[in-house]
Amino acid sequence: MAHESNKLFLKRVPLFSSLSDPQLDALAAASVRRSFPKGRIICNEGEPSQSLYILLAGRAKIQRSDAEGKEVILAVIGSGEFFGEMSLIDDEPRSASVITIEPCEFMAIQKETFKSMLVQNNELAMAIMRGLVRRLRIADKKIETLALLDVYGRVARVLLDFSEIIDGQRVVKGKLPRQEIAKMIGASREMVSRVMKGLEVDGYIVPQPEGRLVLREKISSYLN
Ligand code: CMP
Repeated sequence: MAHESNKLFLKRVPLFSSLSDPQLDALAAASVRRSFPKGRIICNEGEPSQSLYILLAGRAKIQRSDAEGKEVILAVIGSGEFFGEMSLIDDEPRSASVITIEPCEFMAIQKETFKSMLVQNNELAMAIMRGLVRRLRIADKKIETLALLDVYGRVARVLLDFSEIIDGQRVVKGKLPRQEIAKMIGASREMVSRVMKGLEVDGYIVPQPEGRLVLREKISSYLN
């Protein structure tokens, strides 16, 4: 029963579109589905790894912290994305912690089964590589942002990255706490609050009911 439903879930994940039916069976046998509430640590930076995870629903943040507990958010990932592949590939400890920011559902796949499947299936290996390259491109953009933009520009970059077009308007829909923005751009929460206030007063952002934020087109001028 669990096997069949695991297989159905795995079949829908684009990463596994190249797998044959027997391979999907093997993967389903090595997988467990897990649900977690918001705020749960899924894996810890520095710990040995046992599994690769596929996020089936919800969002999670990828975070690192220093010896004093200061935190930086490297990325926020959403449904359909995978994590835990880095320590699986190089056998080093987890490179970062992964923490749910919404209720999440995952598929956890045993490390050894996934590794042997990677060796057997070129398409799967390519799909993992494409995921890694995509992350590198995003990380490159982030380095550029941190090196070249002032705090207004960095806040504008995060707001634009988290926005989508709804009814012809660019909107940040979900909750994006100032503390979390601060951890993404290496600034204090107070500084982010000041910048957000400034953006609001000057008409670059327009707060809406239910915590939505409309971004005016001119906010892109901060990226130049
Ligand atoms: P791993 O090192 O096994 O455990 C932590 C995971 O976080 C890591 O694998 C990647 O899947 C993920 N991760 C690390 N750095 C980034 C990043 N910059 N962007 C997105 N995901 C990342």
